[in-house]
Amino acid sequence: MHGPRRKMKVAGTIMTVNIFLFIVLEVSRSGGQGKGGDSKLNVPSKRFWARLAPSTGFWNREQQKLDLLHNPVVTNFSAGVTAGGALPFDLLPDWLNDTVGLESCEPDPRVALQLKDYNQLPQRFKDFLSYLRCRSYPLVVDQPHICQDGGPFLLLAIKSLMPHFDRRQAIRESWGRAGLLANRTVATVFLLGNATAEDHFPDLSAMLQYESAAHRDLLQWDYRDTFFNLTVKEVLFQHWVDTSCPRVSFIFKGDDDVFVNTPRILDFLKGLPPAKSRDLFIGDVITHAGPHRDKRVKYYIPETMFVGMYPPYAGGGGYLYSGDLARRLHAVSHQVALYPIDDVYTGMCLRKLGLAPEKHKGFRTFDVEEKFRGNPCTYKGLMLVHPRTPQDMIKIWGWLNDPKLTCQ
Ligand SMILES: *[C@@H]1O[C@H](CO)[C@@H](O)[C@H](O)[C@H]1NC(C)=O
Ligand SMILES: *[C@@H]1O[C@H](CO)[C@@H](O)[C@H](O)[C@H]1NC(C)=O
Ligand SMILES: *[C@@H]1O[C@H](CO)[C@@H](O)[C@H](O)[C@H]1NC(C)=O
Ligand SMILES: *[C@@H]1O[C@H](CO)[C@@H](O)[C@H](O)[C@H]1NC(C)=O
Ligand SMILES: *[C@@H]1O[C@H](CO)[C@@H](O)[C@H](O)[C@H]1NC(C)=O
Repeated sequence: MHGPRRKMKVAGTIMTVNIFLFIVLEVSRSGGQGKGGDSKLNVPSKRFWARLAPSTGFWNREQQKLDLLHNPVVTNFSAGVTAGGALPFDLLPDWLNDTVGLESCEPDPRVALQLKDYNQLPQRFKDFLSYLRCRSYPLVVDQPHICQDGGPFLLLAIKSLMPHFDRRQAIRESWGRAGLLANRTVATVFLLGNATAEDHFPDLSAMLQYESAAHRDLLQWDYRDTFFNLTVKEVLFQHWVDTSCPRVSFIFKGDDDVFVNTPRILDFLKGLPPAKSRDLFIGDVITHAGPHRDKRVKYYIPETMFVGMYPPYAGGGGYLYSGDLARRLHAVSHQVALYPIDDVYTGMCLRKLGLAPEKHKGFRTFDVEEKFRGNPCTYKGLMLVHPRTPQDMIKIWGWLNDPKLTCQ
């Protein structure tokens, strides 16, 4: 196209866009005023609030109760409730009134009556629901030395299960090696519950004791370590950070079947502007998701238990967040009813804080394309890849630390 004609065409396009914008703005201005165009005040014709009605989901009703109890305008009990203050029972509508304590560890007999399909639910739901309010179990193995002297800069907190000895050892020998890395202190802890006889586990306690003495990196709480109790692991860990590691700068929390490029994470944190680091929460973020209603899926949740959509959440394979945010998450968690899927629960707590996790393309919880998996350079720019075996972890770590490795 020739110069002048092209200029005219550009000018024409700009004018068309301007006219279009003008029309849109005019229409929306007049539209906003409605019929009574000259009255400035918008008086609702009907009552604009509604009496709080019970949700059809049991979890949602528990949450309605917590919301009400923590609403300072309604009860002004927000400070007293979680600190063990008296419950304002008589301020609650009948359907929310019960005598079981808010964070009680007694099995809750009400649930059997409050879900109409309770008897048909798989056992894991019954177990979860009757202990829904319990958030504290004894810490039986602790590592108070890990956060002495103000650190660490980065804490790697890895969800593991008692029998996964080889995964933990591979992590120690590769990406989870504790110490000084790129002039930053890195510490590693493995988060464990108990592999109980109830779930037919052999007695692993002597081996665990040996491991704990040799490596001093295990945290163990005495509760049944099951998939639906991972949220319990989350709140117990939050509590531990709050009380035993309050000055940690950043936390990576993830599974024991992932590869983490720890140097890449440190590099990312080094370049982070201070204003961004306070609210940092990044991972492989899932948005617009809701509960699975197919009984065969591991993540199945019945309608009688939860209705609605999930907030944006970072896949539990691994995410990175600030120590400052960890403390706020712990504080707000008392206002969020436990949910059996731990990463969704953390998303719910973030939403309660008015925050959302941020997607980072370096987190590959659904792996990279198969053809890239054997290429060392694939891992150079990534922060996390899932899943990887213990042998994979050691192999990839070797690649990344090979001085001869050159990537574009
Ligand atoms: C709640 O109570 C405290 C003192 O008991 C008072 O200072 C505060 O203003 C109250 N808040 C509301 C929202 O009423
Ligand atoms: C709620 O339960 C408490 C304790 O059981 C009772 O004292 C109170 O009267 C009940 N309130 C309502 C509105 O039912
Ligand atoms: C290492 O980190 C410390 C503080 O964390 C800092 O004072 C020192 O300058 C750093 N050294 C190098 C070589 O970057
Ligand atoms: C864990 O479970 C085992 C087997 O059920 C039990 O003997 C043990 O007391 C439990 N607690 C701990 C801390 O190991
Ligand atoms: C969670 O742990 C508690 C305490 O060990 C146990 O009673 C409960 O059955 C567990 N819940 C699930 C869903 O496994």
